[in-house]
Amino acid sequence: MTKMKMFNQSLCVLIALLLSYCNGAVDIEKYLKVCARNSPDVNDCLVDAVQYGISVMAAGIKDLGVPPVDPYVQKELRLEYKNNQVKVKMDNRDIIVAGLKASTVRDARLRADEDSFHLEVDMYTPAVNLSGKYEGGGSYNALNITARGTYHTEMTDLVYTWKLDGKPETINNDVYIRIKSFYMRPDVSNMNVQLTNDAPESKELTALGVRLVNENWKILYRELLPFAMHNWNKIGTKVANKIFLKVPYNQLFPNN
Ligand SMILES: *[C@@H]1O[C@H](CO)[C@@H](O)[C@H](O)[C@H]1NC(C)=O
Ligand SMILES: *[C@@H]1O[C@H](CO)[C@@H](O)[C@H](O)[C@H]1NC(C)=O
Repeated sequence: MTKMKMFNQSLCVLIALLLSYCNGAVDIEKYLKVCARNSPDVNDCLVDAVQYGISVMAAGIKDLGVPPVDPYVQKELRLEYKNNQVKVKMDNRDIIVAGLKASTVRDARLRADEDSFHLEVDMYTPAVNLSGKYEGGGSYNALNITARGTYHTEMTDLVYTWKLDGKPETINNDVYIRIKSFYMRPDVSNMNVQLTNDAPESKELTALGVRLVNENWKILYRELLPFAMHNWNKIGTKVANKIFLKVPYNQLFPNN
């Protein structure tokens, strides 16, 4: 190889490197399928794109700072609940949520224009397990109980819709979508809760408590949904923006 040719090749490599560096370009097509936002098939495209996205995001996307979503690990969640005579305060730690990657994306609907972005994705997840450590207390009238230990919850047949709302935002001359809210409210057809309790003062009540929880899980689930939804909104918005604020709108949803 001549010196000149070698020099030209090196120069090419260098320019290529610099260009991608200057763009701050993340090669998103390595991770995500993109959908043309004005195509008549955009919704079908999105079904495949989200399905593929879930399989990739399960283990996380390091380049984009997306955390692994299946299993999803949450360090901590505090819960305070009050309803008439019932009061509960609970600290949850090392929460692990498993099952998302076996989901089926059933449908998707995109509504986007110059100043708003709205995406709905219909989901089905066959089974989700939720486990972690808890420590807390509850009272019912004068009765006051504290407990601590671990829990393992299995849920099956989850049907839900993700709703993402966002707004275009210009950052360094590129337009991105900033997701402002993430909504979901899963219907669950079965739930089974198991928990251990290491607190000596309430240990003998554990079996009764577990039975009551399992017999009344529907009521309990409904009562706890507002906390869960608030938590999902925070997590979903954060995770979505790892993608939406890193990949310009025109790259994520090309306009043709
Ligand atoms: C949930 O846990 C059960 C047993 O505890 C296990 O058989 C099942 O595979 C788990 N499912 C998921 C989605 O992790
Ligand atoms: C239960 O009683 C303890 C003190 O005995 C108190 O610190 C705790 O806040 C009470 N828990 C609830 C939920 O009222």
